[in-house]
Amino acid sequence: MARQRTLAILKPDCVRKGLIGEVLRRIQDAGFTVKAMKMTRLTKQTAGGFYAVHKERPFFDELTDFMSSGPCVPVVLEKENAIEDFRALIGATNPAEAAEGTVRKEFADSVGENIVHGSDSVENGKIEAAYFFAESELVANES
Ligand code: PPS
Repeated sequence: MARQRTLAILKPDCVRKGLIGEVLRRIQDAGFTVKAMKMTRLTKQTAGGFYAVHKERPFFDELTDFMSSGPCVPVVLEKENAIEDFRALIGATNPAEAAEGTVRKEFADSVGENIVHGSDSVENGKIEAAYFFAESELVANES
């Protein structure tokens, strides 16, 4: 199976709750390799750019307020079947519907404040990684 990359974001609630280490531990234990990582703080505008696909949805304002409410940690991860495996590791968007043992089931409070983002396709993973990381940062970490 092909190695893929996904863009994860440890969201502001993950940082506020002191869960960066715990969530990264789970990600690495599941076989993902960290290829790029930084801590940053989105503005409401840059959060809106990242989630532009959702701009007509009723929760857009709440989502961009939350994502700009504190620092977050974007991470480029690599693994075979990374897109699907990462979404399985974190669980459903709504923690009330997430499977037992998943990151969101254990740590998330709501569908909005759900600890971690994961790309939904290889193509979007590339676009999302480029939103946070320069090409030189991504190419430098190719194996
Ligand atoms: S999915 O699986 O990506 O299609 O999930 P979706 O339900 O479409 O949600 C997309 C992102 O929007 C966030 N979200 C919300 N934020 C605030 N309030 C409400 N009500 C809400 N509903 C959904 C959700 O956490 C998803 O963020 P990401 O970062 O993509 O997981």
